[in-house]
Amino acid sequence: MTKQQLAVRFDRRLAQQFALQFNQDVLRGLTSEPQKWLSAQYFYDEVGSALFEAITALPEYGLTRADSRLLQRHAAEMVRFRPEPLHIIELGSGSGAKTRWLLEAEATRHGTARYTAIDVSAAALEMCRTTLGRIPAVEIETENATYLDGVRVALRNRQPGERVLILFLGSTIGNFPLPDAVQLLIELRGSLQFGDGLLLGTDLMKPIEQLLLAYDDPAGVTAAFNRNLLAHINRELGGKFDLGAFQHDVRFDSEESRIEMHLRSVRPQTVWIEALDRGFRFGAGETIWTESSRKFTMDGVKQLAAASGFEPRMHWTDDEWPFAESLLVAE
Ligand code: AVJ
Repeated sequence: MTKQQLAVRFDRRLAQQFALQFNQDVLRGLTSEPQKWLSAQYFYDEVGSALFEAITALPEYGLTRADSRLLQRHAAEMVRFRPEPLHIIELGSGSGAKTRWLLEAEATRHGTARYTAIDVSAAALEMCRTTLGRIPAVEIETENATYLDGVRVALRNRQPGERVLILFLGSTIGNFPLPDAVQLLIELRGSLQFGDGLLLGTDLMKPIEQLLLAYDDPAGVTAAFNRNLLAHINRELGGKFDLGAFQHDVRFDSEESRIEMHLRSVRPQTVWIEALDRGFRFGAGETIWTESSRKFTMDGVKQLAAASGFEPRMHWTDDEWPFAESLLVAE
């Protein structure tokens, strides 16, 4: 078998494994009582990734612009926490557009920048290669894997003296329930060495009306993004969801300091999913919880760092849209 054939066979096995996981997660979420839920990671099929790119252009959604502004302004300072060349590893690379500032800053310091992008979406990695692979002096690798598996593979043959900076941008950490977020950071810390860095992006608390608009924009792009989760199930698992029978529903939970997105069944209905060979019953007004997006305080970020074995070294914040980049150092 040629190398090419081997790679194709491996990709197919990986795709099967992801599909099986999708199956299991949908079954678990839609049988959960009393609250049905679906994992936010399944927003990002090809259509969902394009809809998310559209969200980032909405005037009401300032998060991604704030993230990019901070990286553009402070990239040189961010990579300077160690004098040695850095192996930059990004969790959930997305299109890779805002990472370019950091890679250019690193290449300016050392002539080259070594970069590994990790994403469960092969489409995202493809986009990332197109955007960042073109920058001269950037050595790019991609890992089609979950975050922790990807990091383990990327650091398997770690050279002595190799320094690592992990990027976890865009406030994706805010999608995880707090205990899971801490657990994820602890496991990340476990695959790092003393003195390695983690650059963590977190969306900060802001007026509730502003948050509700950011997740329920008048043009309905976020509503489409939310409903596309059902379309994704229809396409991949042979679901029979009628997208018109579910409403986009956004709330803010002050207690937990998080935005919640739900899909509300407008009538009683049973929805068949072919791949699971069964139907799921929805009452009128019953919701599927599809996403949480935590809004942090700086104290909250510092506590998260301390709870997972990192020392918060430096922070950069945006005033126009409260958002923070924090450089955490493994201790
Ligand atoms: C990509 C996780 C940052 O929580 O704001 C945008 C995605 N969801 N609009 C967020 C999202 C609805 C999102 N993150």
